[in-house]
Amino acid sequence: MNQLNLSRRNFLRRSGWGAVALATGGLSGLLSACASNPAATAIGGAAATSTSATILPTSTFAPSNTPVDVEFALRAAPGKAAIFPGKESAVWSYRGEVLNGDPNSLVDIPDSYLGPIFRVKKGQKIRINYSNEIPQPSIVHWHGLHVPDVMDGHPRFAVDPGQSYTYEFEIANRAGMYWYHPHPHGQTGPQVYNGMAGLFLVSDEEEEAAGLPAGEYDVPLVLQDRVIDGNNQLVYLPNGMMDRMMGFLGNRLLINGKPDYELSVENRAYRLRFLNGSNSRIYKLGWQDGTPLTVIATDGGLLEKPVQRDYVVISPGERVELWVDFSQWPLGSELRLQSLPFTGASPTGMMGGGASVPNGAEFTTLRVRIEREARENPSLPERLSTIARYQLADAINADNPRTFTLGMQRMTWTLNGRTFEMTGVADDEIVKLNTLELWEFVNPASSGGGRGMMGGGMAMVHPMHVHDLQFQVVERQIQSGFREAWETVSGGYVDEGWKDVVLLMPGESVKVLLKFEDFTGLYLYHCHNLEHEDQGLMRNYRVEA
Ligand code: C2O
Ligand code: CU
Ligand code: CU
Repeated sequence: MNQLNLSRRNFLRRSGWGAVALATGGLSGLLSACASNPAATAIGGAAATSTSATILPTSTFAPSNTPVDVEFALRAAPGKAAIFPGKESAVWSYRGEVLNGDPNSLVDIPDSYLGPIFRVKKGQKIRINYSNEIPQPSIVHWHGLHVPDVMDGHPRFAVDPGQSYTYEFEIANRAGMYWYHPHPHGQTGPQVYNGMAGLFLVSDEEEEAAGLPAGEYDVPLVLQDRVIDGNNQLVYLPNGMMDRMMGFLGNRLLINGKPDYELSVENRAYRLRFLNGSNSRIYKLGWQDGTPLTVIATDGGLLEKPVQRDYVVISPGERVELWVDFSQWPLGSELRLQSLPFTGASPTGMMGGGASVPNGAEFTTLRVRIEREARENPSLPERLSTIARYQLADAINADNPRTFTLGMQRMTWTLNGRTFEMTGVADDEIVKLNTLELWEFVNPASSGGGRGMMGGGMAMVHPMHVHDLQFQVVERQIQSGFREAWETVSGGYVDEGWKDVVLLMPGESVKVLLKFEDFTGLYLYHCHNLEHEDQGLMRNYRVEA
């Protein structure tokens, strides 16, 4: 009943407004309900006051005169989605429309709370008129895109309910699977959780030349975990303070907004593109029969050449793309893509906090049935793309990395002892335009919490994300005593390509090379565990001329 057979025709279709009925009736009720303690408000409760009605898009923006290739309207609003049989779930969703330009620049995922998929080309100039119709301040961040700081969706640009924000930028990124989500301070976790997220696919000539599976053979898959109550409503932070510290972990997996996701495929090669759109969960993806995976892309697009892994690990915010040739199994096979077990994600003795399915527990993510005979089967290209390799020697601080150490003070996560300040930038957070730098993120074994307090210290996993750019991973180190747990995930890192999120296990340090180009201004770096981010495990860095 909840199985979705994926075909181009029924899975992706042009933007429309009918997929999720957007509710406006309960807006004032929602406003008062959420005002006192917005982060803790389960949207299920708010839904009772909403009346469901399909309404037309609003046009509250004032278009600028600059001609662009594609102009979009995007709005966030409360609505309802049929996630489970029976009662609809109250969600907050992005809905969009192409106002000008190629109508295929936006594709809806029918009946999903997820936002429409942007499909744009490198070099295109776009304008997006965002209107905020959820009962909280919000702003849209284009995760992974290289845009001017005023277009990046920094929390200082969050707009109030009923207000709008106009984005205008050129697609500078190479082909890849980027994404968008809200970024107001302190509310990113609940807003993403309630449904606000979508994919942003960029294509370019290099990708076209690689001749990868396209159309119905190119399948985006957004992984998100949720807790659902008896009325089919989403529950956020069921364990209160513990979830806030450790991060939210659900007990139901949704893929593209649907439970029990299943793919029906032909016996040929597919491009499966995964986004970990979860608040805090890490996935260690591997086939149940141990068949190795062929990885073709990471956060910032195609690798130079395909690489093999027994499993791949994606933490919140990360993307990985697989080339899967379903002709290697007999026609009629049923496959399960598992999230395989791993250890060390949580502080010793705390397991997964109060979560019933802790980080590291095994479960099935995707089921695949090989049902149809393919007419043709493309072969895996030997070369996929060209990556300009940064040289360590070219970094202005090759012997002296800029170090960011994770810690905890008074039950709050910190970066170099600090927490988020809206516009605050410390001296060691200022970088120069047009320089290549070596940064080191350090996740010490006892991140400031002290060994005495928790026995093993408060170290836990942190996926670190940097705005404005894609970086290259140059080195990972693991503290002694943490190697055993680390080795349950480290075989699944894919550091060969461009990255904008990098996972740090407890006791791990990662060195990355980053180049600050084109734009000066204020950008963020933070932990992409959204509850950590909301708690202030986020800082600004400033690019100066
Ligand atoms: Cu996807 Cu600042 O985040
Ligand atoms: Cu980002
Ligand atoms: Cu974190």
